[in-house]
Amino acid sequence: MKTRREFLTDMGKMAGGVLLAAPITAAVLEGCLPTSVPMVPMPTTSTDISVDVSDLSASNPAKVVSGVTAPDGFGVIVTRISDSDYRALSMRCTHQNCSVDNRLSSGEIHCACHGSLFALDGSVVVSPATVPLTSYKVTVDPAAHLVHAKLA
Ligand code: FES
Repeated sequence: MKTRREFLTDMGKMAGGVLLAAPITAAVLEGCLPTSVPMVPMPTTSTDISVDVSDLSASNPAKVVSGVTAPDGFGVIVTRISDSDYRALSMRCTHQNCSVDNRLSSGEIHCACHGSLFALDGSVVVSPATVPLTSYKVTVDPAAHLVHAKLA
């Protein structure tokens, strides 16, 4: 059985331990708060997009549209076939639904999953895919260097 003095001394030690541990506990808990998670912009799901294509050319004929997810859940690639012919394509590979990648500088669209290649118009160049990439309806505004695409 502890004396009252021993009991109070033990309580004082425990309180000191809690006070010393508080900053460490606070730091650990703060690391768990949502505000410590890096903010990543959420992709927008939109069915009508306008894309600035002033950066596309014969030597740089395609780009991934940043921050856009089509209703199929995949990104969108805009390609330049000629000055007046542009395409908006789903990034969903028609073989087994991988996302095609953004290695577009060669003028072909590549799927790393099984090696399919698609042309800039979405047609299959190399199987195993046998169906072209989904092509969305586009209108081109050459004066404004804009391609408007309907993703639905
Ligand atoms: S999913 Fe693209 S090649 Fe198989």
